[in-house]
Amino acid sequence: QQKINIALDGPAGAGKSTIAKQLAQKLDILYLDTGAMYRALGLKAKKCGVDPKDRAKVEALLPDTRVDVIYQNGQMRVELDGENVEPAIRTQEMGMYASAVAAHPGVREYLVELQRKIALENDLVLDGRDIGTCVLPDTRYKFFITASLEERARRRFAELVQKGEKSESFEAVKAAMAQRDKADAEREFSPLSCADDAEVVDTTEMDIDEVVDFLIEAIDTRR
Ligand code: C5P
Repeated sequence: QQKINIALDGPAGAGKSTIAKQLAQKLDILYLDTGAMYRALGLKAKKCGVDPKDRAKVEALLPDTRVDVIYQNGQMRVELDGENVEPAIRTQEMGMYASAVAAHPGVREYLVELQRKIALENDLVLDGRDIGTCVLPDTRYKFFITASLEERARRRFAELVQKGEKSESFEAVKAAMAQRDKADAEREFSPLSCADDAEVVDTTEMDIDEVVDFLIEAIDTRR
């Protein structure tokens, strides 16, 4: 039987991961955070002292690298070479590293293959940048989750403050986010873009519960 795979793509800070987690919980299916997989490879580059922008050097690391997605009590975690990488991958710096390594086609092939394999075996909500356009172009559940840059930066800043990481100003957080979006949208391989058959959900003036309820209804009508 065909698995249910729900693709949530969009720029950084649009609330995708929170939305995806809650949606998966409500539908009683698993959540796959594909960004965490790119972050793990970003961390690998950092640990090996490799410039994440150097395609040849980053791709040369792949044969000696293992990224595993592990589910325990319905919760996902990523392991890099057998080690849990949470919460090390959750910093702004690792977001930039992830974005840099994600531009390399060898990195994308490596992770996309793993993502497709997991999607074939499980009902999933996937969040990322290229799920609807590249990883699972045939799924009928595709949403592009977005919000204004100002609002996304505000949410990310609040998250940093909450985590006690308020070393950066709001303006710096906003600038870093704009830079990462630009890099993700302008890269040559699988850039961030909205699939033609995806439904755009602008969450600027919606709270998480509203978005999740909206998605559940939209999924029902697409069944
Ligand atoms: O979503 P998150 O902020 O964790 O993603 C980190 C980076 O990984 C993104 O900026 C993007 O460059 C990359 N990414 C990607 N394709 C995905 C998920 C993430 O290129 N499906």
